[in-house]
Amino acid sequence: MSGRRPLVAGNWKMNKTGAEAREHCVRLRELLPGEPAAEVAVCPPFTAIEAAAEALAGTPVWVAGQNVNEAAWGARTGEISAPMLLAAGASGVIVGHSERRAMGETDAQVAARVRAALDHGLRVILCVGESLGQREAGETEAWVTGQVRAGLAGVERAETARLAIAYEPIWAIGTGRTATPEMAQEAGAMVRAVAGERVDAPSLLVLYGGSVTPENAADLLRERDVDGALVGGASLDPEGFARIVSTAA
Ligand code: PGA
Repeated sequence: MSGRRPLVAGNWKMNKTGAEAREHCVRLRELLPGEPAAEVAVCPPFTAIEAAAEALAGTPVWVAGQNVNEAAWGARTGEISAPMLLAAGASGVIVGHSERRAMGETDAQVAARVRAALDHGLRVILCVGESLGQREAGETEAWVTGQVRAGLAGVERAETARLAIAYEPIWAIGTGRTATPEMAQEAGAMVRAVAGERVDAPSLLVLYGGSVTPENAADLLRERDVDGALVGGASLDPEGFARIVSTAA
């Protein structure tokens, strides 16, 4: 971290009902009183966004969706649009998570979704990251820089403050096999450099994601180009998540 206010975001994935989200967020309110030194976001499933936003009203913790369609409305069964996320109380959204990409989301779709989210006033957490095979084949840099360039294709420099890029190596997600701090730093610096072609690199938030825990967060977040974390499994427990936030702060 280097002068940038860190962001810790909890990606709940397909976990928690509205009632469970409310309970979790009420507990988070108690655990994170006042204005935490790190920025904090929670990313519930669509059906729990409203409950989470209500429980966090009046706090600096913001709520984000986990995906957004590029269209504002229409015949797109099962999809959710940016205006719908906003109306439910979200102020941001994750775009291009590897679990979405594995279901067929393309770079072009990711770029269109980033653009749609920004157009409607949402903040964006854009996810990029390589597979184990790509890392072992020495293709990490080519792959990740390609994803960053594609995802940012329509983004303007003035929008930097509403953007974060999460470097999440696929082999580290949900596996307990965290990237080393050196790997996270190397990838974070690379993401920042290539993102600088379109956005303001020095102020851009670059997060690390992939098996972040209260135990390993400090070592990862100490790195210069790791401005926070996108936390999956460990964000489901409010106490553990709050510990990660206090590490970042
Ligand atoms: P994890 O997930 O922390 O459970 O590895 C991170 C993510 O997928 O965002």
